[in-house]
Amino acid sequence: MSDLEVGSALELLLHGEIVVEGRLVDASNATLFCEIGHGTMSGRCVYKPVAGERPLWDFPDGTLAGREVAAFAVSEATGWGIVPPTVLREGPFGPGMVQLWIDTVDDDAGTLVDVMAPAALPDTWLRVLDALGSDGEPVVLGHADDERLRRMTVLDVVLNNADRKGGHVLVEPGGAVHGVDHGVSFHAEPKLRTVLWGWAGEPLTLTEVTVLEALRDDLLGALGTTLVELVSRHEVLACRRRVDRLLHESRLPYPTEGWPAIPWPPF
Ligand SMILES: Nc1ncnc2c1ncn2[C@@H]1O[C@H](COP(=O)(O)OP(=O)(O)O)[C@@H](O)[C@H]1O
Ligand SMILES: [Mg+2]
Repeated sequence: MSDLEVGSALELLLHGEIVVEGRLVDASNATLFCEIGHGTMSGRCVYKPVAGERPLWDFPDGTLAGREVAAFAVSEATGWGIVPPTVLREGPFGPGMVQLWIDTVDDDAGTLVDVMAPAALPDTWLRVLDALGSDGEPVVLGHADDERLRRMTVLDVVLNNADRKGGHVLVEPGGAVHGVDHGVSFHAEPKLRTVLWGWAGEPLTLTEVTVLEALRDDLLGALGTTLVELVSRHEVLACRRRVDRLLHESRLPYPTEGWPAIPWPPF
């Protein structure tokens, strides 16, 4: 999505009239699918009212929408455009987050993460976990060795995303890969839970280092200022520390001991 497109999407999301069409059934919060229109612009979006957030033991109540918008801000700062345009605003059920709806392809090209029989794992994919299926048969969780997913992995480390499920990875018809559902990000303590462990321990690429260095500066400036409005100061500091640590270690992390590193179910 170009800057121009992101700009108009944000205008639509911020100022458009929201008409709720339905509730997404596989969602754990009140996640509403909506039509949105503003002047000659119209589109579809997801609206998650703060009032519909399921209380969690480890995140303060009423903060998930802000975390989603903060994730968008960081994603934009990387230039990778992973998180769809997302804003905080009033809606039909009070304040909440509103995010542009992403159309997805539903063929093989749209499947970058999957659970399958071990023999079905493509040679080009990375193996994440061996497990047993519901009938006790061996299955494997894997994902494509794909640059678009790898960027998302770097972003997740920075965001400290506690819920990167397969279903939160969306592939657009044009091939762009987006990540959604960042409500449980930015905790100050390590909580990274993801299906994208295929690159654990691998050195960062030169591009990744360049992006992270720019992010480090941005977190001390404009991005940092944006984030303190959305998450706590302590959490912004922790985010900066994660970027510093990534650059210092110069490789993608391994799962932290003592924390279930894979979200369950993984989709
Ligand atoms: N912006 C979006 N564009 C397209 N599909 C989306 C978008 N946001 C969410 N979805 C779909 O809706 C499902 C539920 O939304 P999600 O953000 O995961 O809600 P919850 O926070 O309740 O888990 C996602 O798994 C995804 O399939
Ligand atoms: Mg979800």
